[in-house]
Amino acid sequence: MHLYGTQTITEQGHLAIGGVDTIELAKQYGTPLFVYDIALFRERARGFIDTFKKENVRAQVAYASKAFSTVAIYQVAKQEGLSVDVVSGGELYTALKAGFPTDKIHFHGNNKSVEELTYALDSKIGCIVIDNFYEIELLKQLTTERQQKMAVLIRVTPGVEAHTHDFITTGQADSKFGFDLSNGQADEAFKALYDHEYLELKGMHCHIGSQIFDTEAFSLAAKKVVDKMAEWKKDYQFEATVLNLGGGFGIRYTEEDTPLEPAVYVDDMIQAVKKEAAEFGIELPEIWIEPGRSLVGDAGTTLYTIGSHKTVPNVREYIAIDGGMSDNIRPALYDAKYEAVIANKATAALTKTYTVAGKLCESGDKIIETISLPEAETGDILATFCTGAYGYSMASNYNRVGRPAVVFVENGQYQLVVKRETYEDLTKLDVDYTLV
Ligand code: LLP
Repeated sequence: MHLYGTQTITEQGHLAIGGVDTIELAKQYGTPLFVYDIALFRERARGFIDTFKKENVRAQVAYASKAFSTVAIYQVAKQEGLSVDVVSGGELYTALKAGFPTDKIHFHGNNKSVEELTYALDSKIGCIVIDNFYEIELLKQLTTERQQKMAVLIRVTPGVEAHTHDFITTGQADSKFGFDLSNGQADEAFKALYDHEYLELKGMHCHIGSQIFDTEAFSLAAKKVVDKMAEWKKDYQFEATVLNLGGGFGIRYTEEDTPLEPAVYVDDMIQAVKKEAAEFGIELPEIWIEPGRSLVGDAGTTLYTIGSHKTVPNVREYIAIDGGMSDNIRPALYDAKYEAVIANKATAALTKTYTVAGKLCESGDKIIETISLPEAETGDILATFCTGAYGYSMASNYNRVGRPAVVFVENGQYQLVVKRETYEDLTKLDVDYTLV
């Protein structure tokens, strides 16, 4: 069994996280329950920040909060000196509600509304990452009307696309995000922005994908973007001060995943940028990164209660949990794989093979296709590892199932940070129909 962060097995054979028995947490808060190992989150954050410090490179490590956006996690991110990236008015609102420093908030998105951009300007956030020509025009209009300056980055697609272990380079990047680096659109965006009175162009942003294991993909993207910076310097005497290389650092979900330490990815990136900048004689820009999954992914564990069993003779044995695709859509959506243990039988021999089904009305609602576990009984607690990123944040109310509660654990202590959604919560936006 692979344990993450502060996970241990107690004398009674229970899974503990942060020195807290998960069976006690399940009793106290019910299930499904997300449990976050906050010491592990801090360790990951410091790992990124320290790598830049060691290399003496000015940097911002911006937590990509789409992975898990709640008031409490923004508060921890603030304590750790992280910046954050938000992609909607809702994420911005949550960060502000958490008291997150506005100048360290970056705003992303391929279709930010006038309302969202106005909210970002009102809040005086640190930076807006411009995604398309429509947004350039909108922002010019808004900042000019308001006579307000705003720092911006141009998001480019560098023609490097990465998925897990492989990456490909494409001539023309067919992406809904950003300006293509090779077909002239990035240059056009640059010309529209670099001498604007209110939009302060700081540099470029790129993000090449998610759950990436290959350092070469990041370095290649970095090289392509720095080359473009050098071109703009030569042609327009424009000195870029920021290079944002996005997120996407892969993590271990199962034994098939073999990620490098986050520091290794970052170190490789830094070397690539340094080499390229030196070659072209440009000032080393500040390097920003946006890790989401690699900050919160393995810090999160979901606890479920096992309910019904079904045996399909000669085919498989199902055990069903009290959650499923409503709190973890990733297996259904991406065929994502997870490992799990029976948290109250963590030392018992793995004598059985099961398929773990969710409780939602959809045949594809399976959390784990095949797993070896001890004999599972109704009432046992199943703990699924590595659910901290894109689990709660992609949760839904399908079948009018309430979203789970979230607990943070650290140093033997625990605290509820998101309440369980109640039936009352589920209907609070509904209005009686009274037209007839
Ligand atoms: N920066 C930008 C501009 C992004 O679009 C993303 C993720 C990140 C940073 C953070 O990437 P990370 O470090 O978390 O890989 N729902 C999918 C992942 C979607 C990622 C979207 N963008 C999943 O569950 O795998």
